[in-house]
Amino acid sequence: MKVEPAVAIVGHVAVPGDKSISHRSVLVGALAEGETRVRGFGRSGDTWATVEAVRALGVEVEDVADDELVVHGVGLCGLRAGEVDCANAGTLMRLLTGICAGQEGEFVLTGDESLSQRPMERIAEPLRRMGAAVATTDGHAPVRVAGSSSLRGIDYRLPVASAQVKSAVLLAGLNANGPTTVVEPAPTRDHTELMLEAAGARVRRRATSVTLEPAGALRLGEVVVPGDFSSAAPLLVAAALVPGSDLTVHDLGLNPRRAALLDVLERMGARVSVFNRRRAGLEPIGDVQVQPGELVATRIEAAEVPALVDELPLVALLGSHARGETVVGGAAELRVKESDRIEAVTDGLRAAGARIHSRDDGWTVTGVPARLRGGRVDSRGDHRIAMLGAVAGLASREGVEIGGADTVAISFPGFYDLLESVTRR
Ligand code: S3P
Repeated sequence: MKVEPAVAIVGHVAVPGDKSISHRSVLVGALAEGETRVRGFGRSGDTWATVEAVRALGVEVEDVADDELVVHGVGLCGLRAGEVDCANAGTLMRLLTGICAGQEGEFVLTGDESLSQRPMERIAEPLRRMGAAVATTDGHAPVRVAGSSSLRGIDYRLPVASAQVKSAVLLAGLNANGPTTVVEPAPTRDHTELMLEAAGARVRRRATSVTLEPAGALRLGEVVVPGDFSSAAPLLVAAALVPGSDLTVHDLGLNPRRAALLDVLERMGARVSVFNRRRAGLEPIGDVQVQPGELVATRIEAAEVPALVDELPLVALLGSHARGETVVGGAAELRVKESDRIEAVTDGLRAAGARIHSRDDGWTVTGVPARLRGGRVDSRGDHRIAMLGAVAGLASREGVEIGGADTVAISFPGFYDLLESVTRR
């Protein structure tokens, strides 16, 4: 697939429901009492894997509409033991391992080739401390869990800032005999704790830690899923890069632990406005307008990384169009995402004409306030890298050919159509 240069990115759009919250609404809905109606469900390869996973464990999920599901919960200890295919979804594998740790029975979680290369000891280790028997395969999937409905609550300091690990421990903590506390090196997305609180669990949230008291029962009733900030990010960045653009994304999730890209866009010189700030359930949302500006380089350090971890490839692209040297550091976690995103971004953007160097934990990018030449970006089977290639193509002189473009369906099946609908050529 080739994405040709754009003259401007103009329009008003909305993006599908947030992937992180969609996963969690199905998983927590499965553990709740009675029905959970999920409105605004973001249907994608990853989130559908979660629907199929809970179905494999005995949970009925009604497919009501493209963006609406009803999950028939089985209660906190009611999952049926079995084998689950987590496909490409790291969030599913890690959160579900935490859930299975608190269920009686034996569970096996498998994944595709990419997921089977990602680190799983990071969840196995705290779950063992809680009393579950969790075995990885040389640190990876398949993961085997012999769970117990009487786990121990623990105080756990995360060795890496990871919302997935935090969530796995908290979800196991639902079936523990005392409080579970997770301390984070930097604040990561808090969708799990917000949802558990909404479901009636006792949760104490602090700046860099969270404590959960074991819950008697959960009841969610309804979840309204806001638009996915990470799916909107490529469009917002395209609007910041292409002169003459004016794009508004409506009903967008603006959880401060997710939306740091807006701060980065603003300090680099793009024009960002947020209208209609309001709430969807416990999550803040709003309408975001982006217009281009003269971009200047910026620095990203470890403390800021979790709040824009999936948007960092786009920050490297912004840096290549910004006057000065942009440095992204403290982001070694990018090496263990759906691909090694540090190398995938360096190779891809360099092939498109950018001056970018990998560091162990990020990149150094020397920017020029002009269009990149263009070229070929290989997605490496990673949805976020394919989307990066598309935005690079819009902002280039000659366009970008994307190798493995279809992989966007992992998080956003309609991505190219939506992008095309706001692209002027
Ligand atoms: C996610 C957390 C992040 C993020 C991923 C989704 C989540 O991963 O990169 O896309 O839904 O909790 P880590 O927890 O590994 O940082």
